[in-house]
Amino acid sequence: MRELKVAVLGAGTVGSQVVRLLTENADDFAQRAGARLKICGIAVRDVNKPRGSAVDPALLTADAEAIIDDADIVIELMGGIEPARTYILRAMAGGASVVTGNKALLAEHGPEIYEAAAAANVDLYYEAAVGGAMPVVYGLRESLAGDNVRSILGIVNGTTNYILDEMAEKGLDYETALRSAQELGYAEADPTADVDGFDAAAKCAILASLAFHTRVHINDVHTHGIRQVTAADIAAAREAGYVLKLVASAKHRSEGIELYVGPSLVPTHHPLSTVHGAYNAVVIEGEASDRLMFYGPGAGGNPTATAVLSDVVAAANKKVYGGHAPRELIYGDVNILPASRARSRFQIRMVVPDEVGVLCAVTGVFARNNVSISAVVQERHGSSSAEASALTVTTHEAAQGDVEKTIKELSKGIEVPIDGSQRVVSEAQAATLPVRIENFIRVEEA
Ligand code: NAP
Ligand code: HSE
Repeated sequence: MRELKVAVLGAGTVGSQVVRLLTENADDFAQRAGARLKICGIAVRDVNKPRGSAVDPALLTADAEAIIDDADIVIELMGGIEPARTYILRAMAGGASVVTGNKALLAEHGPEIYEAAAAANVDLYYEAAVGGAMPVVYGLRESLAGDNVRSILGIVNGTTNYILDEMAEKGLDYETALRSAQELGYAEADPTADVDGFDAAAKCAILASLAFHTRVHINDVHTHGIRQVTAADIAAAREAGYVLKLVASAKHRSEGIELYVGPSLVPTHHPLSTVHGAYNAVVIEGEASDRLMFYGPGAGGNPTATAVLSDVVAAANKKVYGGHAPRELIYGDVNILPASRARSRFQIRMVVPDEVGVLCAVTGVFARNNVSISAVVQERHGSSSAEASALTVTTHEAAQGDVEKTIKELSKGIEVPIDGSQRVVSEAQAATLPVRIENFIRVEEA
């Protein structure tokens, strides 16, 4: 049987499990790949770090370039932009196919890497870049080549889903839940990428590029993280019949595509509301295929290693039997809409004085800004003697820019035509009453 040399760059959370599975199941992989897959080296920063029995110390090297130049397939699992980008380009130029889980790199330099693969006549695979073990990249790149995708809605970051879940289910504070996610190997080396939404934004860019056949850069995705999410937000969501999730959304509208990552309210009957822990799920709406859902472990060494290895088998198959991985498709060339034009339903929580005419004034601000209201819930706020109401306003679908203008206007206070004894007076004598905006959040459709 033919032998293919495989260089592994990185032996951390994912790389160490790739090496273990490839070694333990070598005979199976030989059958599936059509060639024996021989690890020709494992590049790491520190060759002296203990790595457990699965990683043969004799294969460790700090000289990544030497093993890249010797390989037929290079698996990049170092993460970060450099030197990962340079190593991948070097591997391709030398005739090796590349398998990577590096979404940060692809969402920034995907076009350059795709072009390098085409120029060198080698393949690029990146199933592990989105959704851990869940085959959503394959789904979009190959299975859905028969349809036009209209929207993608997903939970694509295991760390933040785990944190929000622990906060909601166990009442843990944010820091404790984050530490636990790091210990379990879900978080990136720098968890900022997870909690500030950039990891999900990179994945959103990759999925949108595949779905809409266009180039989407991470900076095209309007991104918010979860650092500001409080226990009060989670409780308010629950009371209103929602679950608070970090959602990635990519929608194809007639005027262009809108891309968003951020905390969102998901109705409890929506399939994404039931995604717990570090699990991921992506709901894809196709024009003809209708609604598809991918679900599975979205992070962690073992699940992610399986995605990497499926790509290694595919790359090996192409080397042995011929053919190529799907090339980059960019014929869609779709306009990317600014955040202000992205449309969604929103929920705005605010505290207002409990006075005659307040509701009318508040709803008037929404109307003036072209934002239609679907529901208003008013409750007494706090226990102080001053009368105050907590107002929760849920809108119909509205442009984000219009909702932002509404909030800005409300924050300046509302004009209420009453005097000190709550008698209605002329508009010219209207009192300005304060509005405190507590939160403003997207609501996903069922
Ligand atoms: P990790 O645990 O931080 O491991 C990184 C590995 O790369 C380490 O072995 C490190 O060496 C090595 N490395 C880093 N810089 C290097 C350099 N300049 N030269 C040589 N080796 C270098 O990372 P990970 O969690 O396994 O993630 C790897 C990739 O998979 C990332 O792109 C990540 O986004 C992606 N990914 C991760 C997950 C997950 O659940 N963790 C899931 C999907 C995708 P030392 O060990 O010597 O420090
Ligand atoms: N840090 C990422 C997550 C790893 O938490 O989802 C998987 O890409």
